[in-house]
Amino acid sequence: MPRSAISPAPRTAASAPVPAADAARGAWLQTFRRVRAETESRAAHLSAEDQIVQSMADASPTKWHRAHVTWFFEQFLLLPHDPGYKIFDERFPFLFNSYYVAAGPRHARPQRGLITRPNGEEVAGYRAHVDAAIERLIANVPAADAPRVFEILEIGLHHEQQHQELLLTDILHAFAQNPTDPVYDANWQLPRASKGPRGFVEVPSGIQPIGHAGEGFCFDNETPRHDELIPNVRVARHLVSNAEWLEFIAAGGYATPSLWLSDGWAAVQAEGWQAPGYWRQKDGGWHVMTLGGLKPVDPSAPVLHISYYEADAFARFAGKHLPSEAEWEVAARAGLLADAFGSAWQWTRSAYLPYPGYRAAEGALGEYNGKFMVSQMVLRGSSIATPESHERVSYRNFFYPPARWQFSGLRLAEFV
Ligand SMILES: [Fe+2]
Repeated sequence: MPRSAISPAPRTAASAPVPAADAARGAWLQTFRRVRAETESRAAHLSAEDQIVQSMADASPTKWHRAHVTWFFEQFLLLPHDPGYKIFDERFPFLFNSYYVAAGPRHARPQRGLITRPNGEEVAGYRAHVDAAIERLIANVPAADAPRVFEILEIGLHHEQQHQELLLTDILHAFAQNPTDPVYDANWQLPRASKGPRGFVEVPSGIQPIGHAGEGFCFDNETPRHDELIPNVRVARHLVSNAEWLEFIAAGGYATPSLWLSDGWAAVQAEGWQAPGYWRQKDGGWHVMTLGGLKPVDPSAPVLHISYYEADAFARFAGKHLPSEAEWEVAARAGLLADAFGSAWQWTRSAYLPYPGYRAAEGALGEYNGKFMVSQMVLRGSSIATPESHERVSYRNFFYPPARWQFSGLRLAEFV
């Protein structure tokens, strides 16, 4: 499967004879090329027809993802920092701005799938045009401006990595609507549960710091680092498995209103949920639509494609709770969690709120995270679709409670 092998650009010169500034330029150039190439390598599994489909309002076409991440560099890096930059096509900012109000008007999100033109070749041309301009900027930006340019470049690269994951979750949703069960990648592997002791482990309690620490990149929503009060709580070493989820189904979990939040039960009723997303009965057994096509459900694998409502109901069914994001982070930092990364994003019971003292940046880039801090829940860890260098112990992913087209699962917690 196409997990990338991207490592962040080194911040200092790698070898003595090369001046530090030149080494930094070289490192950023390599990182830029690697991240951009990963997007194309994920899209390369898809035909032109695959790349224009939008199967629901929350999902975007592959072609749109490829263009939008390119617009991000054009809008936030080239236009403000390269006086000689010539915009590729004056129509594109309207089409490929996602939600940045300060960056100007934009096309309606639910109608992205109606944009058959520009076609894929024109989007490829847009990418090449912006790639060349960014590479020139990396090489030629005056030293005094370089720190700010590389700071925005780094945000743009992490932004593109976020869209690399969305590209996969969105095409999986599209393929799941197709009765022929298309295969994105015949070599796609579902996550497997790691071996090792199971059960619950005690989380360090009392006042504990959470949030980003150190020099590496983070999004603004991971700051400020601050103290949280951790109660006496134990957290599951392992993610909840499909076998455990099958027990929940067999026990009537989806038909027992007392297990559900009111909004969750309404979603069960309205959507007819009887199992996780993409599960379907075939030949007398549960199967699941994956990026490798339709596969039998593997009982030992972590459950995927569940909403917050389902995670919460399962925890109630099990007589447990979901961990808070602070409990999750303290446990992860202590090395207590198996499969913290690389399998499933894990729902927490924490609402997506600003950390104490958080302030969004000035200008349009300040819209990146801060304006979404209401009505969503935090997921921690990372999934099988997350680019490798995009993982962090302080990373805060967030989705609305009914969402289940992401690679989302759960682990349990219990109060002592
Ligand atoms: Fe975006």
